[in-house]
Amino acid sequence: MSAHQTSTTEETLDPHDWEEIRALGRQMLDDMIEYLRTVRERPVWQPLPQDLHRHFERPLPRTPRPLGDVYAEFKEKVLPYPTGNIHPRFWGWVMGNGTITGMLAEMLAAGFNPNQGGLVQSGNLVESQVISWCKEMFGFPPSASGLLVSGGSMANLVALTVARNNRAGYNVREEGVGSAPRPLRIYASTEVHSSVHKAVEILGLGCKGLRLVGVNQDLTMNLDLLKSAIREDREKGLLPICVVGCAGTVNTGATDALDALADLCKEEGLWFHVDGAFGALAALSPELRHLVKGMERADSLAFDMHKWMYMPYEVGCTLLRDADVHRQAFSLTPHYLERTTRGIAGTELWFSDYGVQLSRGFRALKVWMSIQENGIDKFGRLIRQNVEQARYLERLVTSARELELVAAVPLNIVCFRYVGSLTDAGAIDTLNKELLLRLHESGIAAPSNTVIQGKYALRVCITNHRSTKEDLALLVQEVLRIGKTLTT
Ligand SMILES: Cc1ncc(COP(=O)(O)O)c(C=O)c1O
Repeated sequence: MSAHQTSTTEETLDPHDWEEIRALGRQMLDDMIEYLRTVRERPVWQPLPQDLHRHFERPLPRTPRPLGDVYAEFKEKVLPYPTGNIHPRFWGWVMGNGTITGMLAEMLAAGFNPNQGGLVQSGNLVESQVISWCKEMFGFPPSASGLLVSGGSMANLVALTVARNNRAGYNVREEGVGSAPRPLRIYASTEVHSSVHKAVEILGLGCKGLRLVGVNQDLTMNLDLLKSAIREDREKGLLPICVVGCAGTVNTGATDALDALADLCKEEGLWFHVDGAFGALAALSPELRHLVKGMERADSLAFDMHKWMYMPYEVGCTLLRDADVHRQAFSLTPHYLERTTRGIAGTELWFSDYGVQLSRGFRALKVWMSIQENGIDKFGRLIRQNVEQARYLERLVTSARELELVAAVPLNIVCFRYVGSLTDAGAIDTLNKELLLRLHESGIAAPSNTVIQGKYALRVCITNHRSTKEDLALLVQEVLRIGKTLTT
């Protein structure tokens, strides 16, 4: 028996032969680095082969199989069929691309495998440091609190839970939402992301608990409409508690007048939350920071680092101006989680006091390593580069007579469509729907779609550190080619 083999007769999930796993691990790492190096050479996306679905319908394995074989299956059946979000020409929805450092950090985090819920451990210092850096990035005071979460949806949910509990005027944790003397209302523009709708429903306020306010021509919230909605609801006996401002709407990247919203919330005694899932990150660029001015005055801010900070999934963050109010919304300490004065439980900082999860992964590590490796200014430059790419695409679109720009381009999103010589609105929609599918199926580029003021549009959201202007020129070339084929 070699020194690397264990002699125990009891079972474990550790390997029998450590040298064998070391070799396989190295192979995996090598393969993944190569996979990332060559990403541009592959199609953005390809349809899943018919038999692939059947492959994943096999019964529960009961007996062992060599890990090398399982890995070979991963390489053959999983790796070739992603959505394509790591590809330089993927601009659909709001997707992240990840980085090699992020991948390596995820491996370290998984091996180290701390439970970041609380307790005395170095991982909590790393996470606290990342949160302090986030406060600094977005102009929140050092006394603020924060939590790393799975993404923007959870960040909004955590923040709005705190808002609800703090502004409901009674003890919601004790009495529940059913005891509200007056129905609670949250306000956001019609452009707000669906995760805010979901959060309001989960908080028990119902769909009607979120009052959607109309927008201006530039798709930012109309403040006169907001003011009259609040007044009208008060007159009806409802209780306005919170306004959600958008820093970068999902459709077009529009940012509400955040300073004016902060003023209004102060006057009206309302909680001011900002959903800055990707738009908040514009603050990292000195040239773009003015676009999200006022965000630093929010009571709470939600943003994602797996979007416009290019981290691998998952990592989002919620910042709360008032740490005590944050803690009051989630802290719960049964006997089995009691803190001690010394030993492993001897700390007051338990991240589980600030959110939904008790057990939590070490998503902080990839952020901590990436910020140090690159310096935060580099992220600002990449974000600005993406905005310049969006402006370049806007210019390409406006200079092609077959194309129509469907919305202004305030940030990193370009919505446009092929019109050619068509005049019928229905025909234009139909053509663009088919055009998008052909683009996806060609594997050349992947925008997504949306509808802006009734117009179906191809939507290019650039949160991609691998994209170049040539990639965008190729997209326009292909849109023109496919559009022409479909109209002749
Ligand atoms: C503006 C906005 N808010 C919230 C979210 C939800 O974030 P996540 O997908 O990370 O849950 C998104 C996702 O695209 C978004 O664009």
